[in-house]
This record gives sequence, C-alpha cells and structure tokens, in this order.
Amino acid sequence: MPAENQRSVPFQPTTALSLRPSDHPPQPFNKHLHQHAMSGIEVYINGRYYPKEEAKISVYDHGLLYGDGVFEGMRAYAGRVFRLRQHLVRLFESAAAILLEIPMSLEELESAVQATLQRNSLQDAYIRLVVTRGAGSLGLDPARTSDPQVIIIADHIELYPRELYENGLRIVTASTIRNHPAALNPRIKSLNYLNNIMAKIEGRKAGCMEALMLNVRGEVAECTGDNIFIVRRGELLTPSIDAGILEGITRNAVIELARAASIPVRECTLTRHDVYVAEECFLTGSAAEVIPVIEVDERPIGDGRVGPLTHLLLRAFHDLVRNPDA
Ligand SMILES: Cc1ncc(COP(=O)(O)O)c(C=O)c1O
Repeated sequence: MPAENQRSVPFQPTTALSLRPSDHPPQPFNKHLHQHAMSGIEVYINGRYYPKEEAKISVYDHGLLYGDGVFEGMRAYAGRVFRLRQHLVRLFESAAAILLEIPMSLEELESAVQATLQRNSLQDAYIRLVVTRGAGSLGLDPARTSDPQVIIIADHIELYPRELYENGLRIVTASTIRNHPAALNPRIKSLNYLNNIMAKIEGRKAGCMEALMLNVRGEVAECTGDNIFIVRRGELLTPSIDAGILEGITRNAVIELARAASIPVRECTLTRHDVYVAEECFLTGSAAEVIPVIEVDERPIGDGRVGPLTHLLLRAFHDLVRNPDA
C-alpha cells in the first residue's frame, strides 16, 4: 500500500478504553459539564470566585504538568462539612510530605471552605479542595514554580447509583498494585492518582464500578477511592495503615462507630482469601460514604446480600454526619 494511502487510514487508538457493557455506564464527560454549566456554581481560586465555566488556572501549572499538588474530598451535610478540621490537617500533612507550602493557614482555609459552600447556597454538597505547586517553567523542578494555586469546588457528586447502596457493589481485584510507600506513600493524598486510575479502568473493563488494590506484598490495601472493611466471625477487620493505604477519615469514623456499638474491630493484614470467605464487606470514603460489597472476583460475599453489620454501620454513619456534635 502506498505511504499516502496508509496515512489516510483513520487513526485507531489501540489503548482506547473499550469497556464491557455494565449496568451503569459512565456519563460522557462533556455531557456532565454541560449539565452543570447552567448550575450557577462558583469556584474559589486564590481568594476570588469564578463561574464554573471560567474557573481556570495556567497550563504551566505543575499540578497539570506533573500531578504536583495535594487535595481533599469532603462532604457537607445540612450545611456543615463533616470533619473539616481532620481533612485540613491531612491536607497540610500531605503538603508537608511533598514540601509544598500552602499559602494560607489552616484557619484561613477552613473559612474559605465554609464561605465557598455558603456562596453556592449548598447544604448537602461534595467539596474538592486542591492545592497545586503553581505555574512554573517546563521541567519538573518545583523550585522553579512561583504561586501555589488554592482551588475550592463545592458541587454535587454521585459516585454510585443509589440502588447500589441498598443492593451492594460487585468489585474485582486489579492487577495494578497500590503505590509502594517508598515511592509515593498512599498516605499522601496527592494529585497523582494514575495507578488508582489504571486499577479503576481494569474494574470498568470487568464490568465493575470499583476495584480492589493489593499492595506490593500481595495483601489487601484498599479500593481505588475507598477503604475496605470485612466482617469475619462477627469481628470488623480492615487493613492497617502500614498496608500502604490512605488513612481515610470515613474509615476512622466507622471504626469509632463500631467500637461505640461494641462491635470488635481490628486493623490487621488481610489477604484476598480473607475477603473471599468474609461474611460481609463494605467500602468507605468521603465521596462513596459507606457502600456494601456483595461480590469480589465473582465470589459472593456471605450469602451474596448486604449483611446486618453493614446495614447497622451504614445507618449509624448517616446519623453521625448529620449530628452537629459529630
Ligand atoms: C485511595 C483512597 N482511599 C481511601 C479514600 C477514603 O478516604 P476518606 O474517607 O478520607 O475520604 C479515598 C478518598 O479520598 C481515596 O482516594
């Protein structure tokens, strides 16, 4: 075939994300943006508010160029951000770990988050707080960036369809492992989520909305955006922080709730076998909240239905987040 004709063959990306049809196909991104374009959402950037469509930062920002930055995802319930202080402390710890100086104090950020929520007249919302390294020269040297960008988005999020909270999720184990803590510690909530994204793609290709990630030792770590719990012989078990996971704020809240309800809780090493033979399984996260899992790698968990402790903790969590003293 002459070279000319070869060039006219339409480009077929070999790595295109051709997903197995699932019950819950993802929304096309543009459609999502369009739906919200008229929503009147205003985004906070460095002390000023911009309509969502005009909220922009430099293409030279190292957050974009290298994933150099940190973030938090939180929820507000009835106008109150759940465990805002804890999220901000974690943000500052993530920033300290990557030597990123946040150009605001914790108290200033706290006020900015609350002001952004009020500005958007939101009661129940998802809040994304991002701090990037800022714009700089091309080349990854963070010393050649000048102005870290502080971005706060208050909007709505629906990670999973409502019915999955009643009927439970099916998940699969991804072959992509969670970051090795000596490379990029999963305790740092950085803008670099590529390994989790690759695991999410694996999950999607298997027709699942979430995927389980193991650590370098082959132990259970967490899911791509949530922590994991199982119930075994009446005990609530979850991987410990040294499995190489994010120390989830929802995870910690659920541990407290379980202890308050006299449910024995243990942070320990878990293998996939432990998950397969568990009586119950659920995931926790600020965006996901508490969501039951009824199948892992095509093995039904327990009797394949949402279990009683999961129900109890799910309800207790929803009571907690709306409790002003929580
Ligand atoms: C990898 C990962 N694990 C766990 C969690 C859950 O953490 P949290 O409950 O603090 O939202 C998240 C969500 O932010 C996450 O991205």
